[in-house]
Amino acid sequence: MKALVFDGPGRLALRTRPKPVLAEPTDAIVRLTTTTLCGTDLHILRGDVPAVARGRVLGHEGVGIVTEVGPAVTRFLAGDRVLVSLITACGRCGACRKGLTSHCERGGWLLGNQLDGTQAEFVRIPLADNGLHLVPDAVDDEAAVMLSCILPTGLECGAQNGRVAPGDVVAIVGVGPVGLAALLAALLYSPGELIAIDLDDHRLETARGLGATAVINSGDGKAAERVMELTHGAGVDVVIEAVGLGTTFDLCQGIVAPGGRIASMGVFARPVELHLERLWGANITLTTGLVDGRTTSRLVRLVASGRLDPRRLVTHRFPLSQIVAAYDTFANAAQNRAVKVVIQVDNPGARPDRAG
Ligand SMILES: NC(=O)c1ccc[n+]([C@@H]2O[C@H](COP(=O)([O-])OP(=O)(O)OC[C@H]3O[C@@H](n4cnc5c(N)ncnc54)[C@H](O)[C@@H]3O)[C@@H](O)[C@H]2O)c1
Ligand SMILES: [Zn+2]
Ligand SMILES: [Zn+2]
Repeated sequence: MKALVFDGPGRLALRTRPKPVLAEPTDAIVRLTTTTLCGTDLHILRGDVPAVARGRVLGHEGVGIVTEVGPAVTRFLAGDRVLVSLITACGRCGACRKGLTSHCERGGWLLGNQLDGTQAEFVRIPLADNGLHLVPDAVDDEAAVMLSCILPTGLECGAQNGRVAPGDVVAIVGVGPVGLAALLAALLYSPGELIAIDLDDHRLETARGLGATAVINSGDGKAAERVMELTHGAGVDVVIEAVGLGTTFDLCQGIVAPGGRIASMGVFARPVELHLERLWGANITLTTGLVDGRTTSRLVRLVASGRLDPRRLVTHRFPLSQIVAAYDTFANAAQNRAVKVVIQVDNPGARPDRAG
C-alpha cells in the first residue's frame, strides 16, 4: 500500500509499505477513503514532537471502511463505514475509568505518533471498540473526517475546558483548523462576543464567516490593546489558545478578565512564562488538554442533524499520490488561503482541487 512516511525533521515521502495485519484480538483494519492533515503533523515535521520516530506513517484523522476485525472486537464488522478517532482506549484502566481516555494505559494518541497512522491506504486500529465510530449515511466523508481530531479538540479542550457560557466574551488566539473548530464549538454555547485573533487575513475572514463578531490581525503586536478597547477595558471571559507559542500564550494572559478562563489547546515545543505576578489574584482558571474524544458521538449527531457543518473548513483536496504537495500547501497556509486540506485516498485519479 501507499503511505506517507516521516523521515525525520523536514522530510516526508510517499512510500510503498506492507499492508497492516491484525496483531491483537482487539484490533481492526480500516481501508481509508479520506484523511487529512493536522497542525500537529506540522509540529512533528518540524521536529517538535521528538517521540515520533523516523519511518512512522503519519496521520491521526480518517474515514474508511472496516475490512477485518479481531475476535475480541464486538462493536464493528467488516464493511462498516467508520471514522477513526485520534484517541483509542481500553475503557478499563484507571485513566479510562476517570474519563481520561487520552491517558489510557494501553491507548491514547497512538496513531501517527507511536504507531503507524492514517495517511495511508490502510491502518491498523488498536482497541478498535473505543477507537472507531460508525458514520451515518447523512454524514459524508469530509464532514466525518473533521470529527477525528479538530472538532473534539475544539469542543473538549476549548469550549468545555473554557466553560463557555451564554453571553460570554470569548477570544480565540489562532484560527487555524483547531481554533476554527473551537469557534464552531463555542457557538454551540451562544457566546455574546467571539473575537478571532491570527496573523493570516484569509483565516480571519473565514472566522468572521463562521460567526466571529470581531477579528484582529495580531501582526502589529497590538492585539491585547485592541481586545481591551473592544471589551471597554474588561478583558475576556474565556480565551482559547490554539497556536502553541510563548507569544500567543502571553497574549492570552494579557486579555483574560478577572474570574476568566484560559483554555490552552496548542502543542507547545518550548517553555512559556506564567505571569503569576499579575495573575495570582485574578481568580483565573488555566486548563491544558490532550483531547479525549469523549464528545465524538455527540458531534456525529450534531452533524447528522444539520446543526453543525464542519465541511465549511475544507479549502483544498488532494489525492493520496500528491500528499507531499498537500503538506506544502498546508504549511504555507496564508499564501495558499488554506484551512483544512483533505486527502482523497480512494480516488487516485483526482486532481488537486481548491474547494468552492
Ligand atoms: N490539545 C490537543 O489535543 C490538540 C489537538 C489537535 C491540535 N492541537 C494543536 O493545536 C494547534 C493548532 O492546530 P491547527 O491544526 O489549527 O494548526 P495550524 O498551524 O494550521 O494553525 C495555527 C494558526 O496559528 C496562527 N498563528 C501562528 N503564529 C501566530 C501568532 N504569533 N499570533 C497569532 N496567530 C498565530 C497561524 O496563522 C495559524 O492560523 C497546534 O499547536 C496543534 O498541534 C492540539
Ligand atoms: Zn490533530
Ligand atoms: Zn484505558
